[in-house]
Amino acid sequence: MNDVWARWLLHRRPPSPELEVFRDNVLDRARLREGDSVVDVGCGDGLIAFGALERVGPTGRVVFTDISAELLDHCRAQAPQGVRCEFVQTGLPDLAALPSGAFDAATLRSVLIYVNEKAESFHSLYRVLRPGGRLAMFEPINSFGGPGPDNIFMGCDVTGLEEPAAKVMALFTSVAGPMLDFDERDLLRLAQAAGFTDITLDYRAEVGAEPNHLNWDVPPNPLAPSLAEAFEQVLTAAESTALRERLQGPRTKRFATAYLSARRPH
Ligand SMILES: C[S@@+](CC[C@H](N)C(=O)[O-])C[C@H]1O[C@@H](n2cnc3c(N)ncnc32)[C@H](O)[C@@H]1O
Repeated sequence: MNDVWARWLLHRRPPSPELEVFRDNVLDRARLREGDSVVDVGCGDGLIAFGALERVGPTGRVVFTDISAELLDHCRAQAPQGVRCEFVQTGLPDLAALPSGAFDAATLRSVLIYVNEKAESFHSLYRVLRPGGRLAMFEPINSFGGPGPDNIFMGCDVTGLEEPAAKVMALFTSVAGPMLDFDERDLLRLAQAAGFTDITLDYRAEVGAEPNHLNWDVPPNPLAPSLAEAFEQVLTAAESTALRERLQGPRTKRFATAYLSARRPH
């Protein structure tokens, strides 16, 4: 299977009750009503879009969009009969296959983080909404917990093992690209620059001791290797053993997320 997105979402992403919370929080912020026409951008396996379908009722319409044909096929196969949904292969930054001014609401969750052209993406989201249309999104703010002081690696103190830790960190950073180049203030700024109004940002940051449940075999995101794969790629056997042992120790969690909602002015 060549589609990294489908591989991650359908086969590797660990199940998490938090996903339903994220979904409901995005949908609440989109203030969906019966009969609304909604586009979900980067629908993946349909987490947000299927939730939107329930909220807009039989007279509403949900357009599932993604760059992955495989994920759109997956959603199409899961779609209940008799509801108004469409499946369109298109993506940020330009959403080229979508008409302008067509939607009452646009939703997205953990999609912009994978896109380099974030300013252009906000302009496209604005374009596809009708005047008065609402935008609601959720994004992890990975730059908050991103590469930090040299002796901290994945929340663990790696004093004395800075070199192997730096090698692994360099590998993760090399695939991080657009995941680390923004924070919550950028989201606000970009929404405003695209012309949105009534912009609200709900930011949450968590720092604290974390029970050690590092998952060695599941990558942290679709584009990254797993920790086990990363260690295999860049460390000697001795470095790998030493660093792995250290990562069993106490960790500090650093995690931030943001919900943004906004409206295209009338
Ligand atoms: C982490 S998944 C999130 C999926 C879904 N929104 C959810 O909440 O479960 C990221 C999704 O974004 C899609 N994606 C990646 N780059 C994209 C782009 N440039 N435009 C639109 N979708 C994109 C991927 O195919 C994948 O389905």
